[in-house]
Amino acid sequence: MSPTVTILGIESSCDETAAAVIRDGKVLANIIAYQKVHEQYGGVVPELASRAHQANIVPVVATALKTAGITKNELNGIAYTRGPGLLGSLLVGTSFTKGLSMGLDIPMLEVNHMQAHILAHFIEREEMGWKAPEFPFLCLTVSGGHTQIVRIDSHFDMEILGQTIDDAAGEAFDKVAKIMGLPYPGGPNIDRMAREGDPHAFNFTEPAVDGFNFSFSGLKTAFLYFLRKEVKADPDFIEKRGPDIAASIQRVIVQILVKKMVYAAKTTGITELSIAGGVSANKELRKTLADEAHSQGWNLYIPPFEYCTDNAAMVGITGYFQFLKGQFATQDLTPSARLQFGKKVT
Ligand code: KG4
Ligand code: ZN
Repeated sequence: MSPTVTILGIESSCDETAAAVIRDGKVLANIIAYQKVHEQYGGVVPELASRAHQANIVPVVATALKTAGITKNELNGIAYTRGPGLLGSLLVGTSFTKGLSMGLDIPMLEVNHMQAHILAHFIEREEMGWKAPEFPFLCLTVSGGHTQIVRIDSHFDMEILGQTIDDAAGEAFDKVAKIMGLPYPGGPNIDRMAREGDPHAFNFTEPAVDGFNFSFSGLKTAFLYFLRKEVKADPDFIEKRGPDIAASIQRVIVQILVKKMVYAAKTTGITELSIAGGVSANKELRKTLADEAHSQGWNLYIPPFEYCTDNAAMVGITGYFQFLKGQFATQDLTPSARLQFGKKVT
């Protein structure tokens, strides 16, 4: 039997300070400290995020180790998010990792946040019937900063087939929520509100974008003008029709995402499909894509909610695969706000 490998994962790319312990592909602990400080500003304030990470990182890591029931001396490596993300926030996780790895004399593993969202599918789960996607598979990666369709041929061989040419899907959710006066982050609020509404109450035009690419900024502008007009006619419009508005705009965003994913599956002939990233927590997206996959006879893999939005378990599992390959990071690596991954074909 191969020796046990225990990895500490650290995530600090945006406004969650997270630490997880992964042992041989399984999660022993997955701890997240959310930063409430941003709520009053309606969005993440980078400088405040960095400071909160600094305050949180030591207790979050200590809690992760305690929850896992291990000491730091049992760790074999530390995986951290090198990018993409907010530079100041990334610096906190990177510096902490460098210090701890030097102190413990164990390797560091540099992780791309978007790749980690995808590899969250490989976190081993106890539940009946669980299995990871088979290579090659397609992943619709939808977060606050990215919207991509990725072809995955192995844990580290990934190709971006298409992506957004302007706003990300999560950004679209957050912006329409803000226009409606809902608190940040808007995505979960739209999701919740839409459950009571009629998704066909209002019509919004889907943008025409070539290939596997996406666009959401036109939709956001159309939504702004639509609401302005309606509120001018009736100042209580949002109050009266909130759920219908949320359900209708959500339907369009979900349709845009699902249609492109179906197009990608049909074009590539790949029938193993998956979703990842914060927006993959969206109930309507999960259901619509599941129905579509079911009717086509395709396999769809959906991570549990805790591995959709930002977390350190996904960073830990990515680091675990790197550790097995002996692919270590060096102390001179700096974080990168726009870190890229995979080949691009568009
Ligand atoms: O992956 P993530 O947690 O952080 C980034 O890497 O950006 O994604 C955050 C994004 C936010 O835009 C948030 O509004 C969106 O994911 N989101 C959702 C839902 N939960 C999170 N969007 C729609 N429905 C949800 N249930
Ligand atoms: Zn993310």
